[in-house]
Amino acid sequence: MKGRTVLVAGGPGTGKSILTWHFMFSGIEAGEPAVLVSLDQSSKLIVDDMAELGWDARPAVDGGMLQILSGTFDLVPRESGYEYVIGFDHPLFREQPFTMSRLASLVRKSASELKATRIVVDGLGPLLELAGRRLEVRQMIYGFIRELAYDDATVLLTHELRSFSLADIDEMPYFICDTVIVLDTLYVSGDYIRTMRVMKMRGASHSMRPVIFKITDHGISVFPETRIPE
Ligand SMILES: Nc1ncnc2c1ncn2[C@@H]1O[C@H](COP(=O)(O)OP(=O)(O)OP(=O)(O)O)[C@@H](O)[C@H]1O
Ligand SMILES: [Mg+2]
Repeated sequence: MKGRTVLVAGGPGTGKSILTWHFMFSGIEAGEPAVLVSLDQSSKLIVDDMAELGWDARPAVDGGMLQILSGTFDLVPRESGYEYVIGFDHPLFREQPFTMSRLASLVRKSASELKATRIVVDGLGPLLELAGRRLEVRQMIYGFIRELAYDDATVLLTHELRSFSLADIDEMPYFICDTVIVLDTLYVSGDYIRTMRVMKMRGASHSMRPVIFKITDHGISVFPETRIPE
């Protein structure tokens, strides 16, 4: 998966963030440093949520195995209406306005300092909102993803899915990324179950079948042999 981009798509609460954290901490335990870019939560909340699932981020951050770059997304009133602004918790963006290419450079710089082989961008949604029009979305996301995906690193991106109607989604990330994993919840026999399925995986033969998974106090557990009840 080195040099490849993986999109994790799903509705709210389907487990996108937790899946990416599991991927990062598995790498960190195996000696592979990671960089996490999050655009919807502060670093403190992220670290607290990780701790709930048994992952202590502090020693990883202190030991140079993990860097968390976090930003928040605000709607700011202007004379001509509202403008989307990304507030990014990094000295670079206190002096200069936020741009996609500056963010990409920052992530690349952090990744090369840490020798990170796992890069996670949690929440493409705010970036897509910021881009607005479709052509801009295509160019911006395309450029951003291409800048991040280099030979030694696997890049995981999450995308908030509201609907699978092609008219509604910003489909570009789905075409650009090498692999797309879709997380979902299904109502079966009076209860909700979590499923994941590989929508596409370039260069590999893979099952199209959804697989059941659970979120536990230790992250994600997958049950590939369990059949989904009709
Ligand atoms: N310790 C736990 N045990 C079981 N389930 C948990 C645990 N912690 C969180 N969850 C479940 O995981 C969900 C959150 O997962 P996660 O934050 O990865 O979702 P997400 O897809 O990133 O959501 P969003 O789109 O809002 O960012 C919670 O809504 C809850 O159902
Ligand atoms: Mg999330």
